[in-house]
Amino acid sequence: MSLFDLATSAVRILPAESAHRFTIKALRTGLARPTVGLDDPRLGVTLKKSGLRLPNPIGLAAGFDKNAEVFTQMLAFGFGFVECGTVTPRPQAGNPRPRLFRLNEDSAVINRMGFNNDGIGVYVRRLSAAPRLLGVVGANVGANKDSEDRIADYVAGVKAVWPHCSYVTINVSSPNTPGLRGLQDRGALEELLGRVGDAAREMDKAVKDRPVFLKVAPDLDENAIADIAEVALAQDWLSGLIISNTTVDRPETLGSKHKGETGGLSGAPLLEKSTRVLGAFHDVIGDRLDLIGAGGIASAEDVVAKLRAGAQAVQLYSALVFHGPMLAQRIKDDLVHMMDEQGLNSISDFRGR
Ligand SMILES: Cc1cc2nc3c(=O)[nH]c(=O)nc-3n(C[C@H](O)[C@H](O)[C@H](O)COP(=O)(O)O)c2cc1C
Repeated sequence: MSLFDLATSAVRILPAESAHRFTIKALRTGLARPTVGLDDPRLGVTLKKSGLRLPNPIGLAAGFDKNAEVFTQMLAFGFGFVECGTVTPRPQAGNPRPRLFRLNEDSAVINRMGFNNDGIGVYVRRLSAAPRLLGVVGANVGANKDSEDRIADYVAGVKAVWPHCSYVTINVSSPNTPGLRGLQDRGALEELLGRVGDAAREMDKAVKDRPVFLKVAPDLDENAIADIAEVALAQDWLSGLIISNTTVDRPETLGSKHKGETGGLSGAPLLEKSTRVLGAFHDVIGDRLDLIGAGGIASAEDVVAKLRAGAQAVQLYSALVFHGPMLAQRIKDDLVHMMDEQGLNSISDFRGR
């Protein structure tokens, strides 16, 4: 057993948040070192509206690298893009521990972290220290819990990260900051996107080609989906949606002892719901916005399900907890194998089937 395998096994017996901290430290010190090669060119994707070019469609979702500490290493593990954050303007401790739970029997996670992060100053310093052309690195911004003007936090975040990332995500869908998801309501969303749009246009004069995505919850009914789609489509500067964040639902099927914990549920039990909501958005929006699918992805089959529902690219996080950081590479190998078998020439060929 290699040192790397040993570390991966050790992580599974630690409490969830200690395991995560250990993983970040191991990555920073170089203990966990990947050996993956260049991507098969058929895995490359160019998103339609934003023109964002990805070497492969498998992204690391926000929340793993909240403080922009290990995005270089995670790109080296084979992710096509890595999203750092959520970052807030001021540093924030988040909720009291324990606040992260592994639901082993359900291949799921519940978290109520509450945007614990080092703040935008440190985050931007780390992002800007990375070599240019390293890979696609997104910056996910949010609002401080005690902020008097949350929209002002998003505007400040967008402006601060803009020159230092490949794309920006506006996260209005964490269930762990009370009231935050209210920003998805029609009136609030119009105001948010109006003010962020002004900031984006201003920043675009100096630094071009920074796609902006809005990340939404899966807990939306038909009317909410129609409203969000309409408001989003009215913003010419907005590139797309990331669908979805964690859910506050607790499916009947959950069997783990932690199933009653408060917070957002992610991993396998989120796959079906988040894919259905992605499909509902795609029914309204088509390819007029770039849709990125997240929620419960653990295999190439899950990726294909998201692509068929309308995603142009995907992100995952929770499955890493159970399968380790080589998962992105395994999924890519399986996708290439499926393309060979089905005679497909590009990732987008999966979408039409
Ligand atoms: C521990 C944990 C922390 C997360 N933190 C964030 C966050 O800070 N910002 C965010 O936009 N999403 C966050 N997420 C949500 C993920 O980015 C993703 O949207 C969600 O977990 C669904 O994907 P998955 O089932 O592959 O994990 C977090 C998820 C987990 C499990």
